Amino acid sequence: MIEDQTRLLTVLFADLSGSVAATLDLDPEEAVEKVNQALEVMAAAVARHGGRIDRYLGDGVLAFFGVPQAHEDDPLRAIRAALDITAGAAERGFQATAGIDTGRVYVGQVGGAGHHERTAMGPVLNLASRFQSSAAPGEVVVGEATWRLARGAFEFEPRTLTIKGVPRPVPAYVALRPLARPRAARGLEGRRTALVGRADELARLVRALDRARAGEGGIATIVGEAGVGKSRLVEELRMRAAEPAPGGTEDLLWLEGRCLESTTSTSYAPFVDLLRETLAGGREDSPVDRGAAVADAVQALAEAGDMQAERAEEVTLLLGNLLSVADPAAEAALASAAPREIRARTFAAVRDYLTALSARRPLVVALEDLHWADSLSLELIDFLIEPVTEGSALLVCDQRPAQEHPSRDLPDLAARKAGARHVAIDLRPLDAEDVRRLLGALLGGGSLPENLLATILDKSEGNPLFLEEVLRSLIDSGRIERQNGGWQVKPGVAIDVPATVQSIVLTRIDRLDDEPRQVLQVASVIGRLFGTELLRAVAADADVERALWLLEQHDLVYLDRVLPEEQYSFEHVFTRDTVYDSLLKGRRAALHGDVARALEALWPGAGDERVEELAYHWERSDDPGRALEYSIRAGEKARRAFLNDAAVAAFSRALERLDVDGEPDPAARARRARVRESMADVLELVGRHDEAAQEYGRALDDRPPDEPVARARLLRKAGGVLRVQRRRDDSLRAYDRAEAELGEPPAEKSEAWWQERTAVELGRVMLDYFLSDTDELAQRLSGSRPLIEAHGTPLQRGRLFATLALLGFRRERYAPSDETVAVARRAWEAVNESDDLAERVDIQFCYGFALLWAGRYAEAEGRLTEVLTLAERIGDTTTRARCVAYLALLERRRGRVDAAREWAERAMAVAAEGGMLEYTAAAHAHLAWCDLRDGDLDAAEDHARESRALWEKLGGPYRLLAWIPAWPALGVAVARGRRADALDLARFLLDPERQPMPEGIAAELREGRLKAALERARATGYA
Ligand SMILES: Nc1ncnc2c1ncn2[C@@H]1O[C@H](COP(=O)(O)OP(=O)(O)OP(=O)(O)O)[C@@H](O)[C@H]1O
Ligand SMILES: [Mg+2]
Repeated sequence: MIEDQTRLLTVLFADLSGSVAATLDLDPEEAVEKVNQALEVMAAAVARHGGRIDRYLGDGVLAFFGVPQAHEDDPLRAIRAALDITAGAAERGFQATAGIDTGRVYVGQVGGAGHHERTAMGPVLNLASRFQSSAAPGEVVVGEATWRLARGAFEFEPRTLTIKGVPRPVPAYVALRPLARPRAARGLEGRRTALVGRADELARLVRALDRARAGEGGIATIVGEAGVGKSRLVEELRMRAAEPAPGGTEDLLWLEGRCLESTTSTSYAPFVDLLRETLAGGREDSPVDRGAAVADAVQALAEAGDMQAERAEEVTLLLGNLLSVADPAAEAALASAAPREIRARTFAAVRDYLTALSARRPLVVALEDLHWADSLSLELIDFLIEPVTEGSALLVCDQRPAQEHPSRDLPDLAARKAGARHVAIDLRPLDAEDVRRLLGALLGGGSLPENLLATILDKSEGNPLFLEEVLRSLIDSGRIERQNGGWQVKPGVAIDVPATVQSIVLTRIDRLDDEPRQVLQVASVIGRLFGTELLRAVAADADVERALWLLEQHDLVYLDRVLPEEQYSFEHVFTRDTVYDSLLKGRRAALHGDVARALEALWPGAGDERVEELAYHWERSDDPGRALEYSIRAGEKARRAFLNDAAVAAFSRALERLDVDGEPDPAARARRARVRESMADVLELVGRHDEAAQEYGRALDDRPPDEPVARARLLRKAGGVLRVQRRRDDSLRAYDRAEAELGEPPAEKSEAWWQERTAVELGRVMLDYFLSDTDELAQRLSGSRPLIEAHGTPLQRGRLFATLALLGFRRERYAPSDETVAVARRAWEAVNESDDLAERVDIQFCYGFALLWAGRYAEAEGRLTEVLTLAERIGDTTTRARCVAYLALLERRRGRVDAAREWAERAMAVAAEGGMLEYTAAAHAHLAWCDLRDGDLDAAEDHARESRALWEKLGGPYRLLAWIPAWPALGVAVARGRRADALDLARFLLDPERQPMPEGIAAELREGRLKAALERARATGYA
């Protein structure tokens, strides 16, 4: 019995339609008899196709396909059974209807006290039942998921249904009849892409083909996991084979036979498939016709002299037998032969038939999916290797690497028997570049955001089928959508295991007994990669060695590495996900707890080292206390390493647990305040200012009044956020409140108090840099200096120098004196050893900035890029924006248009990320300058206008820097001959509020010689 789980299942409802009418004039006993007959038909059809009756429902049945053993072709089996039911019912004078759907279903115990039964539940069941009730008498109606998986095997007619309780029309399909030759339903509809990669493999196959054309036979074996592209490769070869032969030789003959999962125990299945396809030649496929076709074909070979006449009779007899032609004479002829003898004669007949076929023209025999071959077929292939390779035909075989199936020996056998005439192809996943190319082709123009692309590539692991399926399930579920040639993405896209892929995996899992399956479940909880030691510790009762051996045999896991610790890997992420998803929630949580405990027991002193791993498991366990503790620890660890996204994610998870209803106790509030503050620090660093401000505010709410220093710290940090957001009045108020919280200096010496006091002071100074005039700034600074020098940390002293340098910039109108540059340099040096990288980059930036204004471009470039690298490492958006914007200005000063443009574009992007108006404005100004230099006046004008409009909002020291957009604007006005505008701009630039410009240029402007001014500015590298 299989344990409770959720799994992929195909569900069939079949019912007698109008049975009431049919039984109306019968007496009750007769009616029951009739209904029983019908139910028997149903049960027999379900059993015949490997399904299981779950229950009888009046005069109908509910049947499952895919439990206890899943098959890749469960949807096909269900449809076959349903078609048999409707046909069988019709023969007995009834009408039956059927509905089928495929999807995830809960399988297990249901029921309340006293009454339990095993069944399945889920929306799929309801839908299938609705499909059944919507079917007209004799119809089989299937849902979309079933259709997708079966559309290569049946003829369907689409239909749209409205179903009560479902807001949108539901697509459905009426299954009409099986297609003569089923094909795998693969590829995105209408998106057959060109072959990517595989050049080498195809070339080797084509060489073998050319040799066959020249009369030299051979065998090719292609081995590769499901969906990696074996059939596709064979198909490509077939297309080459269909090209006209060089030198006008006979056209090549291509025969193809495939194995199906459902014919694994059918004797000679791929050969029967091959012969039927070849011999039917468009004729109706009844046994009698088949017999005639065999006789004709063999006769033709004999008449052409390619087969001896006396062999012809024997070959006709045995091929006919193989194809089950209903010929009483033939049956009589073979009746007395022993099975061994029939086998030997059949082998010989097939050999002679193929040899005769290849006598006049090149022949290729392709046999596909041999991992599902019956053992007779494999023996026959073995038997054929020698005659074929010694003759002129080429045998092409493909199969999955199924270790538990005899087909695994075929490549070795071929190597031994055919030697140099064997082409062995071990088909590996596509490399990353090919996968990207394939994905691009599948998307057919338009692209996806890089992170989604990366996830898709990651999940599909180079397997083209998985790639197609993942993409399709994203499209089907509406998470990506085609819109005017591009793709629109809904946020929060997670990638589930596509149904096709699930069924491939489930088929393997279901063949396991309980113990290895349970070990596999434990492993899935540990993760895609799992160490043997940990697995053993969790699955303590199981024979883990044996289980792993079996799991390897079934191609579910492989040994990934032995050192430093033995570790296994699931074959594919989807293998792991399928197993994991099938676990019920409660069991999953229990297992996560077991894994976490085992981790702690195995590596007791591991401390911080395994924090993420422990957090991962505890968070999914049923121990909320541990989960919280570890989320916080993981967040703090990530924050220290500047893994900002991971930190935000971990803190969010912790906060979700901390945000309980009702009033938490003081300890919980203090803890929540700490988490909020850490979270806010990270958010601020990455430029998510609004959220940061909000978290600081909430943290403040959690701090009681008797914690003035902590409250002041939160207010001061919020003030910093507001300052960066240019909400200067609010910022000022926050600093005032912080100061008020701190109140008078405490009686006993408190370092924390003084440091916070200093920090508030420094924050104020920074604000004054933007707000007040230089005298006020100087005054405040001289007032603060003793405080900072007495109580500041080294970092705070570094900040003091930086602020002094800022004062210098303001005073000297951004034409810094040597003294100011020296102060900025001291700021750099004071913090160069600090490991508070966030503070450090902020302070050190100002030295690069000083060097830039001092015209020391090479040095400035060096320092700014150094700061930028650091800022990138820690994800500091504000500092990144500053650096790239001023590097753009630097290149502008050097007259390098391309480099300036590159930095400006980056500045535009980063400024947008952090919502920083000033750098967006600067980026527009620099782009205006670049466009002007490149002669694109329209673009230059747009950028300049945009920039100047933003600039007006900036105020403060930015008034000094307003020439940055005004110069390119002047260039545009002059080039367009708009003299009045140009003169206005000249006056604007000459305003004493602006940063001073070189006297020569100013003189030209004053005299109204605007062209000359522009030329001079350009020649001297000023603008
Ligand atoms: N190199 C390739 N370039 C483009 N598309 C490919 C390539 N290889 C495979 N595909 C596509 O990926 C899908 C799966 O490939 P295919 O059916 O050949 O796999 P398979 O190895 O035969 O799988 P199975 O073992 O299930 O039969 C198909 O839609 C195929 O067209
Ligand atoms: Mg295939």
